[in-house]
Amino acid sequence: MSKLTRLPQWQALQAHYDDLSQVQMRDLFAQDDQRFSTFSTQSCGMLLDYSKNRITRQTMELLLSLADAMDIAGQADSMVSGGRINATEDRSVLHTALRKPRGDKLLLDGVNIVDDVHAIADQAAAFTDKIRSGEWRGYTGKPIRSIVNIGIGGSDLGPLMVCEALKPWAQRDLEMHFVSNVDGTHIAETLTRVDAETTLFIIASKTFTTLETLANAHSARNWFLDTGATEKDVARHFVAVSTNAEAVAGFGIDTDNMFRFWDWVGGRYSLWSSIGLAIRLSIGNDNFDAMLSGAHDMDQHFANTEYKNNLPVIMGLLGVWYSNFFNARTCVIAPYDQYLHRFPAYLQQLDMESNGKSVTMEGESVDYATGPVLWGEPGTNGQHAFFQLIHQGTDLIPADFIVPAVSQNPVGAHHKMLLANCIAQTEALMKGKTLEEVQAELTTAGRSPAEVESIAPHKVFSGNRPSNTLVLDELNPKTLGALIALYEHKVFVQGKIWGVNSFDQWGVELGKQLASTVLRELETGDIGEHDNSTSGLLQHCATFNK
Ligand code: F6P
Repeated sequence: MSKLTRLPQWQALQAHYDDLSQVQMRDLFAQDDQRFSTFSTQSCGMLLDYSKNRITRQTMELLLSLADAMDIAGQADSMVSGGRINATEDRSVLHTALRKPRGDKLLLDGVNIVDDVHAIADQAAAFTDKIRSGEWRGYTGKPIRSIVNIGIGGSDLGPLMVCEALKPWAQRDLEMHFVSNVDGTHIAETLTRVDAETTLFIIASKTFTTLETLANAHSARNWFLDTGATEKDVARHFVAVSTNAEAVAGFGIDTDNMFRFWDWVGGRYSLWSSIGLAIRLSIGNDNFDAMLSGAHDMDQHFANTEYKNNLPVIMGLLGVWYSNFFNARTCVIAPYDQYLHRFPAYLQQLDMESNGKSVTMEGESVDYATGPVLWGEPGTNGQHAFFQLIHQGTDLIPADFIVPAVSQNPVGAHHKMLLANCIAQTEALMKGKTLEEVQAELTTAGRSPAEVESIAPHKVFSGNRPSNTLVLDELNPKTLGALIALYEHKVFVQGKIWGVNSFDQWGVELGKQLASTVLRELETGDIGEHDNSTSGLLQHCATFNK
């Protein structure tokens, strides 16, 4: 047994699960007309309703005592004060410092990093103003009209998700493009939509060694030069965001056109840093600052709110409850907002790259489940695709519904329809429909007893399927910042309970290494020692790629 599963708090939860696992949420609601007010809380421009979960007051007490036992508050304090909690990379984890207001203080190795953060933010802000106002000109004297962000993982998903989410705040005559995939199709198709004279390429890479990003950056540069520009024109059309000045210079980008950040910012936590340059360019500095301040508010909420009203703590604990006691291996993210259509993809990296681990900080194998599989699509589209399985499939799939109370596009009755669908789904998942209810419905509809008997089982919904509902007052830069920070901290809470390092990603590093060996073999045709599947695939593909 592991340290975690030996804890009395864990064992108490296990015993409680045995008592509660057959209890129906619809009965809990029937017994308690205060359930919504007991299990909902508001902060940072959003309401969290977690009453449609398989919990009682006792469940929450037990989960909160687990948080206490794991000293979540102390661990969070260690993160935000610069402790080297990313032990396997010997680094601090300080994305929260990127949201600290000017004038705040946080010493790391004797340096106030908040001053440094704001100095770089000012550099990015000044550059942003020049591009957006048209003061910065391309090599033929025309203003910039297209931005192409070349990056992958955290250097792509965050900026892309936010630019999509905050389109109503975007400068619409500045077109945003994102290229991530090493598949040549991605860069090739993007380049057909832009004009070299009016395009700015942002090469976004923390390490500046990532194969995909460098390949796309080189292809973009070659294309730029092929359109008639010269080497000296590159400086007006290529900027870099990185921690690696040497590699940026090696690529041929003037380091005057480089926006720095720091090794204590993890890739999937980096949209708040210079990696967010594309966001600044799209929505402007004031809106970017509003996003930072929303995230900072959530940081303060996480740090200063008692566990029982603490949004990230509650959501993190509920995730543990389902992953470890109900054996729920996936959870669905359903944003009922078209602007949030990339939010599930963004959260996949944030959550799965962080907590997809099976060894604890002490190097011991876990004997419990850690990070679940996250997936999802915006509602209402998801309802017409995969919701069938969530309602009537064999797996328990906890859901997060996210919906703004008001729309940025109040067209006719659309928003009420959207809200109605979102809320109705949470009700249907919770309540389900019993056999007796289905039989009565079919009988009332005039079906014969034989028909009722044969059809009824197919129309039964077990219900008792849990969900959280997050209602944003509005989707805007500030609430989006808070929402992202909420999920960052939720991931942190879970990582700390599971005892894993949420801030490294050695699993991805292995793929990077293997791909470079295999690439060399494909390029030279000299195929080395592999299992016979790998050799067979390489030989097959090599015949098409001589
Ligand atoms: O996918 C692994 C990863 O290291 C991510 O953590 C990171 O966001 C991404 O690659 C891109 O890395 P970089 O910004 O260094 O190019």
